Amino acid sequence: VSDWIHVKAELGAVPEDWSLFADAFERFGCPSSIQEDTPPSIGGYLVALDAAEDQVKGLRQALLALGAVAVSSELVPHEDWSELWKQHFKPRRVGRRIVVRPTWEDFDAHPDDLVIVLDPGQAFGTGDHPTTRLCLELLEETELARKAVADLGCGSGILSIAAMKLGAESVDAVDIDPLSVESTRANAALNEVHVHVAAGDGLHIFERTEWDLVVSNIISATLIRMSGSIADAVAEGGTWIASGIIRGNWNEVLSAAERAGFRLDKLAEEDEWVAARFLR
Ligand SMILES: C[S@@+](CC[C@H](N)C(=O)[O-])C[C@H]1O[C@@H](n2cnc3c(N)ncnc32)[C@H](O)[C@@H]1O
Repeated sequence: VSDWIHVKAELGAVPEDWSLFADAFERFGCPSSIQEDTPPSIGGYLVALDAAEDQVKGLRQALLALGAVAVSSELVPHEDWSELWKQHFKPRRVGRRIVVRPTWEDFDAHPDDLVIVLDPGQAFGTGDHPTTRLCLELLEETELARKAVADLGCGSGILSIAAMKLGAESVDAVDIDPLSVESTRANAALNEVHVHVAAGDGLHIFERTEWDLVVSNIISATLIRMSGSIADAVAEGGTWIASGIIRGNWNEVLSAAERAGFRLDKLAEEDEWVAARFLR
């Protein structure tokens, strides 16, 4: 259980390109920043770990260099943080049939709906972020019956649970962050689906070496760095769903994927975020 640091930049005017600011947050460990038009600002939460001081310093400099008028940072104790995001996290429909519902909210579901119940705690993945939604939409459009799936960077476990509910045969999920591993375990149990979860920094930690589909919602730099090992982990004819890509980084991610032996099958976009389905 950790505290958080809220970093907020006040901008003189609504920027032409928000992605430069969102990218700065992403580079300094905060993949989901929140933009506001009136008054113009962008903010995000960083986990208050030892390294946070340097991260906040770097982020502050980057934001000021981009033209922010002022940058504030404030410690948010864990209890306040939990309450804060509870107010924001409401049931939400994603794609055609998927509904993400927090444990503390009711939802009148249609019989065809696939309801994912979540208590994400601190882990990333409430379905509230475009990068998660794009993955869910691409997963929903992909045939998953009898498929072995890997979820690289599972966060709350939302994509693993969705894959199982969409008919996957098995899901192996990994995250570098032990809290996410715990969160995925707890959420899989809540949804009564089996997900094999482990802590680690890649798919090499599993006994299995090949999957029909790998889904990864991680920042572009990691996707680029891991594209070769992901290609090794995707069976021939298999699929890689990659998300977490700020539009400005898309060409670099595409080149890395193509170099690794993937070809683009479908592109999906929301705001300044891009996600892709690649085939191998
Ligand atoms: C943007 S979140 C995605 C969470 C969830 N899959 C979703 O789509 O909402 C990225 C997750 O990847 C994890 N991560 C980052 N680098 C990783 C790595 N090298 N190996 C495994 N997990 C990683 C982070 O801890 C974080 O939980």
